[in-house]
Amino acid sequence: MIFRQLFDSVSSTYSYLLASRQGGEALIIDPVLDKVDRYLRLVRELDLRLVKAVDTHLHADHITGLGALRDKTQCITVMGEQTKADVVSMRLADGDRLTIEGLALDVVYTPGHTDDSYSFALPDRVFTGDTLLIRGTGRTDFPNGDARHQYESIFGRLLKLPDSTLVYPAHDYRGDTVSTIGEEKAFNPRLQVRSVEEYVEIMNNLKLANPKMMDFAVPANMKVGLHQDEIARRGWAANANEALALAGKPDVALIDLRERSERERQGIIPGALHVPYPRLQESIAPGGVLHELVRSTGKRLVLYCAFGERSAMAVQAAQDEGLTSACHIEGGIDAWKRANGPLVR
Ligand SMILES: [Fe+2]
Repeated sequence: MIFRQLFDSVSSTYSYLLASRQGGEALIIDPVLDKVDRYLRLVRELDLRLVKAVDTHLHADHITGLGALRDKTQCITVMGEQTKADVVSMRLADGDRLTIEGLALDVVYTPGHTDDSYSFALPDRVFTGDTLLIRGTGRTDFPNGDARHQYESIFGRLLKLPDSTLVYPAHDYRGDTVSTIGEEKAFNPRLQVRSVEEYVEIMNNLKLANPKMMDFAVPANMKVGLHQDEIARRGWAANANEALALAGKPDVALIDLRERSERERQGIIPGALHVPYPRLQESIAPGGVLHELVRSTGKRLVLYCAFGERSAMAVQAAQDEGLTSACHIEGGIDAWKRANGPLVR
């Protein structure tokens, strides 16, 4: 496995780049906007293809690199389903798996620091965001924080992992880089409590100042969605009602860009073909399945995903390949559902 721990000294944030092999797909956890060029250089140097950018939660102390990475690499932006960010490509829930080629991370919902806090676990290590820090825990005094929930997340979920599991947090202010679950159980001062009440008492009396960047970082991080106006202005977007009218037509091919787990959870539009977003580029290039389908049948591609972000990038890519009738469903399956569009499982 390729694994890099990257540091932003301004916000003391750790970001993590993971891939299963050189030349393969990569994902990044908790990227910082100011460091995006450095990440992309490293991705190039290691001959990787960034396919997912993931935030463990809505950050208050730095601006996320999710939007910039998506704009520069067309990668999929990922956060938990509870997040208040406007649009991310993919939303995860507890029990899901966060996958790229050769790697699958278990998705563990660990609220407390915020209500959208997640941890991601591999067999030997866990990325704990701001839930469990090295000899500390993430503050719980923000509007969406809850010390009681954090206690459950830590004691009920994270500390149940094997003692040897490596702990990689989203921040460290002292220069520590990694710990283990066993070490934190034994030496983390916040975890030496006998009850949830004792933990809540500690967390409610920390009297911490707000992060310097909080007032603009939070609003900025809530607006990470792709700007889709240009796509719509060019006539490449169908709203859910327009898509309903298109769906039954014989000259239309509906293309589902989501992953299998999303299709199983949310359902699919009847008759849609499944072309996962990471495989799109090869399908729309000359000789690819979708390219030849359009050429031989004259069908119009109607692309869709979960929230319309992957499909907006896909429609641009299809247009670039000369598939000029391609469009996408604005707002994705989420909008389709709200328009009472039929779904099968
Ligand atoms: Fe945080």
